[in-house]
Amino acid sequence: MKRLLIVFLALTVTSVFAYGVDKHINLGDRATELKNEGKSRDIHPSLSEIRKMHPEFLLHKRDKTVHQGIRTRRDSLKECVDCHSTTKNDEYVPINAPEQFCSTCHQKVGTSLDCFSCHRTTPKEDL
Ligand code: HEC
Ligand code: HEC
Ligand code: HEC
Repeated sequence: MKRLLIVFLALTVTSVFAYGVDKHINLGDRATELKNEGKSRDIHPSLSEIRKMHPEFLLHKRDKTVHQGIRTRRDSLKECVDCHSTTKNDEYVPINAPEQFCSTCHQKVGTSLDCFSCHRTTPKEDL
């Protein structure tokens, strides 16, 4: 019984920490608004899926665009940047800058993206 209690406590503590980490993610201006309006599920039907699967989604979409000329908003890198960017003093902060949406988790897992050597890091231009 005592062991069970310890296991239970350990689990609770871990999930509290996991939640704490999530809370620090800087979602970006528009994404924060949409989240507050309760619209998250319209965009990402499952959070755990987008967390895990976004590299595959993006690369799949890239292939569709580059090889088949299919350009839609779904899984578009431009769209991620549009919605997940932050502004500071009326200017967009590059989305891959430290503590911005596309860098916070990546810093933690030691991933760095080469995507933004070509793609815009701020909303509303081509590529
Ligand atoms: C060498 C330059 C270059 C690099 C690096 C690059 N891309 Fe692209 N990407 C392009 C070009 C060019 C297109 C075609 C744009 C078009 O025709 O609309 C494209 C298109 C895309 C598209 C489809 C358009 C959109 O926004 O939906 C996605 C998604 C994409 N790239 C994702 C990525 C990701 C993710 C990475 C990093 C892993 C990456 N790209 C790295 C040049 C690059
Ligand atoms: C129209 C706005 C919008 C677009 C476009 C969008 N997102 Fe999101 N995204 C959101 C919102 C809102 C949330 C917050 C969901 C929540 O916490 O309820 C979110 C959450 C996420 C999360 C989870 C963050 C966390 O808390 O762990 C990831 C990862 C993510 N988005 C990646 C992407 C990627 C990659 C793209 C582009 C393929 C993208 N998003 C496009 C609005 C958007
Ligand atoms: C909730 C945390 C989180 C957020 C937010 C996040 N990522 Fe990721 N991303 C990861 C993790 C973890 C990996 C490594 C996963 C793996 O290797 O399978 C990764 C890997 C990637 C990769 C593959 C890199 C490679 O070299 O294989 C791409 C592309 C990518 N992320 C794009 C983005 C973009 C674009 C954004 C912002 C719109 C973003 N990510 C936001 C967690 C996140």
